Amino acid sequence: MEKGSRDFCRLLLMMRGKMWYRLFFLFVLLWSPACPALAQEASAVQRGEYLFRASGGCGCHTDPKKGAFLAGGRPLKTPFGVVYSTNITPDPVTGIGRWSDADFIRAMTEGKGPDGKHYFPVFPYTSFTRMTRQDLLDLKAYLFSVPPIRQENRAPELIPPLGWRPALRGWKWLYFRPGPFQPDPRRSAEWNRGAYLVTALGHCGECHTPRNFLGGPKEELFLAGSVDGPEGQLAPNITPDEATGIGTWSIPDIVWFLQTGFKPDGDDAQGLMAEMIEQGYRHLSEADLTAIAVYLRSLPPIRHKVLAK
Ligand code: HEC
Repeated sequence: MEKGSRDFCRLLLMMRGKMWYRLFFLFVLLWSPACPALAQEASAVQRGEYLFRASGGCGCHTDPKKGAFLAGGRPLKTPFGVVYSTNITPDPVTGIGRWSDADFIRAMTEGKGPDGKHYFPVFPYTSFTRMTRQDLLDLKAYLFSVPPIRQENRAPELIPPLGWRPALRGWKWLYFRPGPFQPDPRRSAEWNRGAYLVTALGHCGECHTPRNFLGGPKEELFLAGSVDGPEGQLAPNITPDEATGIGTWSIPDIVWFLQTGFKPDGDDAQGLMAEMIEQGYRHLSEADLTAIAVYLRSLPPIRHKVLAK
């Protein structure tokens, strides 16, 4: 320690019993303009961490084999080639450390980078666009609180024409409907919370809704299961159809599954779903998981059998 700061510490130690010193500290805590800002920042980070969990823990941005937390580089196989997830740590050079609030919001809600380039929809901005502005800012505060990691992003290896970035403009025109979640006033607050968690943060449809040959979601089969989920994994039908979906699951069954990964038949979740639960959904409050279950149970049952290829 430097001599100056050692002397300062010694002075503080000498004075610590004095009443006026305590009062001085109290004054600094209560009145310093920095303190309310610091407290606000801390609570934004805390709220942001919860939202991060609700989104499944952004697992795609961490390479489970050898990668640092959120530093990207994880290969994600799609029918159009391989995309590598990006570094979303606050490193200013290789991560998002220099992004402004507006940059972050644009990326999450418009699928556009700070340099104006369009993102491939493997990045689920199609769901995150439904998030509220406050939730987006809190999530950013959390991401900016994790350790920065210097790791360059890898270019995607995609097959033209869809692998060609300018073609994304057409894709977006066809399939991307930006805009925040619109609550349904005829439904309960619990149902609306569940709908928000499923369609915006949890982005369940990105894996559980099948896609057409252009990679556009088949809206009429919302959550009815997809053979080609990310990384080629089969994501089952989670509408309440009894024969092909989860119609026989009760609300507590769904909550238990999102907390533990165990299905009512004793089987456990594998692959990406296991990761989403482990890193994300299992950290949610029972009230939020129940809201998700209430919303899922209210969906129209769709008969759609998804079988492994
Ligand atoms: C990153 C992709 C992905 C996301 C996002 C995702 N899931 Fe899944 N989900 C899967 C996969 C893959 C499986 C199959 C796991 C298995 O077979 O063990 C699965 C399985 C399930 C099952 C078990 C169904 C059954 O019949 O066995 C339920 C229920 C489920 N997910 C609900 C959800 C909910 C609710 C959300 C959003 C809050 C969600 N999932 C988000 C990929 C995903």
